[in-house]
Amino acid sequence: MNFKKISIKAFGRYVPPRVLTNDELGEMVDTDDEWIYSHTGIRKRHISTGENTSDLCTKAARQALQHAGVAPEDVDIIIVTTSTPDYALPSTACLVQSGLGARKAFAFDISAACAGFIYALSVAEKMLRSPHYRNALVISGDVLSKIVDWSDRKTCVIFGDGSGAVLLSAAESYTDESFLISEDIHSNGDKAMSLFCGYKGVSNPFCAYEPGEGDKFINMDGRAIFDFVTRQIPISVNAALEKAKLGLNDIKLVVPHQANARIVEVVAKRMSCGMDKFALNIERYGNTSAASMPIAICELLETGRISLGSGDKYVLTGFGSGLTWGSLVIAM
Ligand code: COA
Repeated sequence: MNFKKISIKAFGRYVPPRVLTNDELGEMVDTDDEWIYSHTGIRKRHISTGENTSDLCTKAARQALQHAGVAPEDVDIIIVTTSTPDYALPSTACLVQSGLGARKAFAFDISAACAGFIYALSVAEKMLRSPHYRNALVISGDVLSKIVDWSDRKTCVIFGDGSGAVLLSAAESYTDESFLISEDIHSNGDKAMSLFCGYKGVSNPFCAYEPGEGDKFINMDGRAIFDFVTRQIPISVNAALEKAKLGLNDIKLVVPHQANARIVEVVAKRMSCGMDKFALNIERYGNTSAASMPIAICELLETGRISLGSGDKYVLTGFGSGLTWGSLVIAM
């Protein structure tokens, strides 16, 4: 036996209370509910009115710990995935550690954009194979509203703020069993500029770079991303299933990154399966980046479509800036 049984203990989520509807967006830019819903499947999203990423992440993590009945002092590892950290340094994970009072934990961020939850689950699971760690918190959270250009109708209608967390635990006994059955994870830095925010220019006493107005915001080639992910995600899901020696019929539900309902429709069609195999809640949240998967899972737990401890198998699949993408086959 090489490692202790690693399982999912509990999930948590938090979204800021302020809801922004498509009709309200129609008063801000030249758009309307009909266009937004028909092109994305989104009706509304939650927007921060002051809370930053660490605040959202701390609340989601606290809920996961409460659901698991685990004290903050018993957490060994905290991983936050975010594209909108509170500060360039320290990491958001260290701020969350302080907010939770998880004194024993070590904390760090992972940058993999909307695929962050997939990347971090994989990393945390590998770390829990070590005999030294018992409990790991993986938290994805973003306040995308602070990097969205609110005068650009092509991007401001898509994103929302939110966070989701999961607590993973290693048991006492060595059984070599893990909730993570297989994974298929990729990056393609050649496509980095199809979705980016910020600027590469260096500014110091020896060279001057003046950021432009647009440099502060998300820049996105929506069509290129749509085409890329609708090709790659079916391949990735099938690769993960193949490694798990499972077929789609063995899977209760695919929980995709909630980027655009139309992307999921194309993926479902390319995988020759019905939309009922895919969890979708983008209508109420927009694209909350890597938090979208744990938020969706929390809703599925609340409605009984997912039951923790059941052993039922699910596929998580995500993609984002980088470009990054990947799929996990997991057992609940
Ligand atoms: N309201 C009204 N019209 C809009 C609009 C809006 N919010 N946004 C774009 N348009 C217009 C464009 O200006 C364009 O008009 P034009 O033909 O007169 O120039 C037209 O709609 C088509 O624009 P286009 O960008 O080609 O639309 P699309 O069908 O590709 O849909 C996205 C745009 C962004 C919804 C779609 O490309 C997409 O979802 N891509 C993936 C993005 C994504 O998932 N990103 C996150 C990855 S984690």
